[in-house]
Amino acid sequence: MADKIKVALVGIGNCFAGLVQGIEFYRRNPSQQVIGIIHDMIGGRSIHDIEFVCGFDVAKNKIGTTINEAIYREPNMVDWIDEKDMPRTDALVHESPVLDGVGIWVHNRINPIENTKSEEELAEESKRIIKETGAEVLVSYLPVGSERVTQFWAQVCLDTKTAFVNCIPSFIASDEQWAKKFTERGVPVIGDDIKGQVGATIVHRTLARLCSDRGTKITKTYQINVGGNTDFLNMKDQDRLVSKRVSKTESVQSQLKERLDDDDIYVGPSDFIPFLGNTKLMFMRIEGRQWANTPYNIEVRLDVDDKANSAGIVIDAIRLAKVALDRGIGGPVHEASAYLMKHPPRQMSDVDARRACDKLIEDAA
Ligand SMILES: NC(=O)c1ccc[n+]([C@@H]2O[C@H](COP(=O)([O-])OP(=O)(O)OC[C@H]3O[C@@H](n4cnc5c(N)ncnc54)[C@H](O)[C@@H]3O)[C@@H](O)[C@H]2O)c1
Repeated sequence: MADKIKVALVGIGNCFAGLVQGIEFYRRNPSQQVIGIIHDMIGGRSIHDIEFVCGFDVAKNKIGTTINEAIYREPNMVDWIDEKDMPRTDALVHESPVLDGVGIWVHNRINPIENTKSEEELAEESKRIIKETGAEVLVSYLPVGSERVTQFWAQVCLDTKTAFVNCIPSFIASDEQWAKKFTERGVPVIGDDIKGQVGATIVHRTLARLCSDRGTKITKTYQINVGGNTDFLNMKDQDRLVSKRVSKTESVQSQLKERLDDDDIYVGPSDFIPFLGNTKLMFMRIEGRQWANTPYNIEVRLDVDDKANSAGIVIDAIRLAKVALDRGIGGPVHEASAYLMKHPPRQMSDVDARRACDKLIEDAA
């Protein structure tokens, strides 16, 4: 039997709570083995062959608790498994540098510590924890707009030779300089900005591609997303949103035969509606022209749990990062990044990306 993959986690928010509680859900409901999982086995490992060995956060109520306690601390709101029924774990949540992690809208909900240690001291401490716990893969679920914190953790990964899965739109795998550093150091990176299992991006990309492949011309399109968790509250700060818009827009543009002018495409998180909680609503419209220049349009409304959406994908990203480590792949793992992430270093069609990803998985079997 393959050893468990030891994983470190940065940002113990709702997405991570969904990942951990989801794994527990499947453990308790083995009959649900197949529903909701893209790949049962990757590199000889199921979703149960993952162990979270340490976490890093800045919230006062999460630091010093165990991971399985932290996932229930406010403002997290995933509650698929009752807290008292979660298995106990010794894996602790440690201090991360705050840097640009906490935006103005979420400050009073996250209630961050004030770091008393310098960035260098925290880097040394984090590297020691990663080594002591044996973490092989580090997953970042930081808030949108955390450019400096993302770079801090990317550097920690490089220094400790830990594979990096970057679920947020602060560009590392898709940034030439950072990608080069990972390649030169022989460390795999999968990024950037995780797709949903059936999320707004994949639905929009697929329909845009369909319209383009069927010979029609898309003339205008928009995608509006609203939700009610801290992720959406944080994104009310337009300054933090620049890379998220680039990531989401490029993900759709890349599927079109002819790119749209900037004024003819709008793709973005658009507002915070508190009572929606972790439910994300997406409203999408495509306007186009078909045979004989006749107009058509498509409207879609998607209603989905955003956290289940993310967990269903990161569960593969973690196992693919381990495959890359075992196979000595350094730098961006292109197949996994293109299939699982919105802003990979190389965009592919989702069909080609799935094929390439499956080939990587088959080769590792
Ligand atoms: N389907 C999805 O949910 C989806 C898809 C793509 C990307 N993402 C991205 O994943 C990220 C996480 O989403 P979420 O809903 O879990 O967010 P969240 O707000 O619930 O959690 C963020 C966590 O990061 C912590 N944090 C803040 N600053 C930090 C720092 N400097 N160091 C360490 N931890 C810090 C917060 O305390 C909190 O625990 C967001 O950037 C989101 O946009 C999510």
